[in-house]
Amino acid sequence: MNILVIGRGGREHSIVSHVNKDENVKHVYAAPGNAGIEREATCVPIEETEIEELVSFANEKAIDLTIVGPEGPLNEGIANRFQEENLPVFAPTKEAAILEGSKQFAKDFMQKHDIPTAAYATFTEAQAAKEYIKEQGAPIVVKADGLAEGKGVVVAMTEEEALEAIDAMMVEKTFAEAGSTIVIEEFLEGKEFSLMAFVHGSNVYPMMPARDHKRAYDGDAGPNTGGMGAFAPVPDLTDEVIQYTVQEIVQKTADKLVEEGRPFTGILYAGLMLPPEGMPKVIEFNTRFGDPETQVVLPLMENSLTQVLLDVLAGKDPHITWKDCSCVGVVIASKGYPLAYEKGFPLPFNEDTSNAFVVHAGTKKDGDSYVSNGGRVLLVGAVEKDQQTAAEVVYKEMEVNVNKEHYFYRTDIGK
Ligand code: AMP
Ligand code: GLY
Repeated sequence: MNILVIGRGGREHSIVSHVNKDENVKHVYAAPGNAGIEREATCVPIEETEIEELVSFANEKAIDLTIVGPEGPLNEGIANRFQEENLPVFAPTKEAAILEGSKQFAKDFMQKHDIPTAAYATFTEAQAAKEYIKEQGAPIVVKADGLAEGKGVVVAMTEEEALEAIDAMMVEKTFAEAGSTIVIEEFLEGKEFSLMAFVHGSNVYPMMPARDHKRAYDGDAGPNTGGMGAFAPVPDLTDEVIQYTVQEIVQKTADKLVEEGRPFTGILYAGLMLPPEGMPKVIEFNTRFGDPETQVVLPLMENSLTQVLLDVLAGKDPHITWKDCSCVGVVIASKGYPLAYEKGFPLPFNEDTSNAFVVHAGTKKDGDSYVSNGGRVLLVGAVEKDQQTAAEVVYKEMEVNVNKEHYFYRTDIGK
């Protein structure tokens, strides 16, 4: 088989590595990829949203399966175009990807179908939004309706912060059109986790739950980032909570999308909040693999990823089995991230001397050497019999190997 993976981050490097393990896979291409991916696949200089170029490439190389990493192309209809050309693609159509593409759509959908989520209201006028915030008080959560690379959410602990968020999104237009509609949400307290599932219509095959750490610094302090580390599975979740999440949230969402004439194919990702009492509520849906959750969930899957994706696409049960192990992954980020940071420094980790696995995110080749090319640069991970051992292995490697001059990482992931 020839496989095409679309994207350039840690998630895509992880997908490429797992696809490569399958003996039926002859050739893996990545568009556009990164320096780590380049060692395992042929990178082609096509951007994620250059849909017509990707379609031509897939036709030319007789691609048997395309896996789409990021959300951007999904909302622009990449799956629709591939399907029109009869090119097998594991990704939702834009009609189904709207579950991530519009927070208003997602909230209205959940409310209509009684899928548990925070109470909310939607606004297109700054004045009305501000009045609502003054009425509700803080803490309160302000979200841009459209895609904003994970930056469109402000968890405001004070009324002032919430009002500033309205000005930034609706008056100053920080997120352009993505912020012309906003969702204001009840603040949920509890522990977060994510659950991803392989979905095709009403067929739902859940993965191991994971926990991402979105804040930049130890103890969940500092600004929100794309994710500073993750682990899977999540020891503090009971079977009952996982059952509930799969049945009442993920399965129900898949079923209702079918009923609404927007059948979903791809990875359905539920971001959830588990309150101190009771069952989880949905914080957000993503319509793709999570990053960095993917990097810690795929190493626990015993099946070949391509086999699972092809089975699911063919309507067959992929019989997924999981290692009785735990995986911890810690991100090494450029100093300053998620705000301004510099790129182009030698990579912070010596891969040759490490027992951990290393996933590349923002990296590129500069002549013969590798340099940083983004905020999140590498993820260092380990699979061990339990979470504590996995975290110990990762951090031991990092203490020895990481040059911290231009980089930082959290020291509390999985501990
Ligand atoms: P999102 O991009 O929607 O996942 O939001 C980013 C982060 O903001 C989440 O991972 C949560 O930590 C936080 N968040 C979002 N919505 C809420 C909410 N209703 N209550 C509390 N925290 C939230
Ligand atoms: N880890 C959250 C995301 O992929 O958006």
